Amino acid sequence: MIDRKKIKQLQKTVWEYYNTHGRHSLPWRKTKNPYHILVSEVMLQQTQVARVIPKYRVFLKRFPTLQSLAVAPLRDVLVAWQGLGYNRRAQALHKLAGVVVQEYKGRIPTAYEILLELPGIGPYTASAVSAFAYNAPLPMVETNIRTVFFYHLFTNQEKVSDTELLEVSRVLLDSKRPREWYWALMDYGAYLKGQGVRSNMKSKHYTPQSIFKGSDREVRGAIVCALSTTESATLNKLVATTKIKKDRIQKQIQKLHDEGLIQKKRGRWLLP
Ligand code: ADE
Repeated sequence: MIDRKKIKQLQKTVWEYYNTHGRHSLPWRKTKNPYHILVSEVMLQQTQVARVIPKYRVFLKRFPTLQSLAVAPLRDVLVAWQGLGYNRRAQALHKLAGVVVQEYKGRIPTAYEILLELPGIGPYTASAVSAFAYNAPLPMVETNIRTVFFYHLFTNQEKVSDTELLEVSRVLLDSKRPREWYWALMDYGAYLKGQGVRSNMKSKHYTPQSIFKGSDREVRGAIVCALSTTESATLNKLVATTKIKKDRIQKQIQKLHDEGLIQKKRGRWLLP
């Protein structure tokens, strides 16, 4: 197992970095509101901090409470989500709001296991909401945290599993102040990445980010984006607006429809 001296040294490095260079003014770090924190974490799942900041602010102006999100049409949520990508995250967040209102009286659950059952919530997001909103001392790993662990503790090891990383996360955790500890760890990891440390290939679960240009994901994004600026559109109109080949549009329209992200009314496509 990792030795105590290494642990102590790494904790010191992380805290020192955070005290002088921590990103103390990130908007979601100035709140303990679980709904606000949940929104930030879902946005941050696959999108960079700098792109999330303005979207987070506008989103919470439009949907200031979980109740307001739950009663809004999905269309409005998708419109507010434009620019963040992966529209299914917005759909899941909207669905989650409905479930929490219906089953938990509008209060986001505190227990990790219950959070994990909510739409769009994986192990990381469940722990992050617990830690940042409720200061729960739970182990967690995400991309920045992995970078720190690989760089400092798994120097000579390849194919590290998340189970191993979670164990390290548990040992390293400052259980008196989990909230600040994870902010510090993430900031230090982001710093290492900025310095060119690219160690996440060491993860057993590593998958390189897929290329966006020319992908089905790009086509899907273009369809939802086009529909967010108009009431409704025909297939031909979508082809003209997006400048993407008809057969590709047709295929993704079908998929988006099956997933409930778009609807068809009187021969025209629209956001639900
Ligand atoms: N602060 C809280 N959660 C964060 C995240 N996922 N990424 C960066 N900073 C954060």
